[in-house]
Amino acid sequence: MANPGKTKRIVLISTDKAFVQETKAAFSSSDLIELITVDKNVVELRGEIQESNCDAAIIDMDAAKLEEIEALQRITRRLEGKAPILVVTQEFNAAAVRILVQLQVADFLVRPVKTADLVRSCIRVLQGPGREENSESQIYTFMPAAGGVGTTTLTLQTAFQLHNSATRGVSTCVVDLNFQQGACAEYLDLEPRFDITEIENQPERLDRQLLDVMLSKHSSGLCVLAAPTHPSEMRSFNADVVVRMLDLVSAYFDNVVIDMPRTWFPWTETVLLGSNKLYIVSEMTVPCLRHTQRLIQAVYETVGKEVKPNVIVNRYEQKMFESGIKQADVQEILGDHFVGGISNNYRLVREAVDRGVPLHEIDANANVVNDLKRIILPEEVVVEGKKPTSLYAMGKRLLRKSA
Ligand SMILES: Nc1ncnc2c1ncn2[C@@H]1O[C@H](COP(=O)(O)OP(=O)(O)OP(=O)(O)O)[C@@H](O)[C@H]1O
Ligand SMILES: [Mg+2]
Repeated sequence: MANPGKTKRIVLISTDKAFVQETKAAFSSSDLIELITVDKNVVELRGEIQESNCDAAIIDMDAAKLEEIEALQRITRRLEGKAPILVVTQEFNAAAVRILVQLQVADFLVRPVKTADLVRSCIRVLQGPGREENSESQIYTFMPAAGGVGTTTLTLQTAFQLHNSATRGVSTCVVDLNFQQGACAEYLDLEPRFDITEIENQPERLDRQLLDVMLSKHSSGLCVLAAPTHPSEMRSFNADVVVRMLDLVSAYFDNVVIDMPRTWFPWTETVLLGSNKLYIVSEMTVPCLRHTQRLIQAVYETVGKEVKPNVIVNRYEQKMFESGIKQADVQEILGDHFVGGISNNYRLVREAVDRGVPLHEIDANANVVNDLKRIILPEEVVVEGKKPTSLYAMGKRLLRKSA
């Protein structure tokens, strides 16, 4: 990098005055990032990026226009990887993604871009490719104790919390192992791109480049690996494919969050053994809690004491009817496997699913969001009266780590 350890210089190429203003404002309070702007379209550039001696460039362009892509290609060639490029584009189709991947841009965001996402992406890009050395990927696995208990909802919300966390690495990928009827992509209004048939018989074909094409990318930068669903097909997948896929994903992401199916497959054991945290999602009914007990037993029998099954009880009600399950019963049945309950908030979860957005986008302080955070990121739960960590405090910490 051009200025290691000091202020990082970012050059922004954009003719969109409003976007330039917003970005300037976002970086104005940072003493670690200096933003230079160039009021030109990418096709009009004549060496401005190289001359700026920048640490990273943000190029605002239309990836669907051939001449703009060609201009980007010239720039990446001339830069020879000296400064990472972050592309902000209108278009988001498979062809555009493929080209951006081939040109090895460090990241791309799709308009409309939220300032916080742009800042976060810049920090990530400035940190350089991959993760910090020696930092192992953390794998969080969510297993349902019954159908419809909220496993997908909690998987996705956990992934967002890790992705937005100041302390848990910078890149997060959701892996939907419900090949038959996964809902992860659908819940976020993304197109599932994982084409298992393409690699089914040759898992070794799955490499970084192919993985990039098969990832769906949320506007926040969160990645999702999910296969299109085929309701009428009963298929099982080769354990090798699943293992290869998880190896690859954990090599490239700091956090991997897995949405497991209810069925126990030949590869389930491998996934469990590879998990750093295992959460069984349950609910407050007698059959479900009983089944949870059996599942805990099955996990112990399969993977021994390697992985502790933690139980999250979703739609947790503090006050139940006389005959219903009470808090004390849950504790008694699950013992110290019980790590917390998640409030029942039908309106919030329903609205999120219908709009295809994460829960915190509807209400950042919703009970479901905070209940889950207390379980996943207890150290980041904001204590009443204490100021929340600002994006810049977070950026500083990240940059310091990378310097
Ligand atoms: N904390 C909650 N409060 C209220 N409703 C919830 C909560 N969590 C999930 N739900 C609702 O429960 C339903 C099932 O959620 P979700 O799809 O996440 O479950 P699942 O366990 O992944 O289901 P499946 O077995 O189909 O994979 C959804 O309609 C969702 O809106
Ligand atoms: Mg599900």
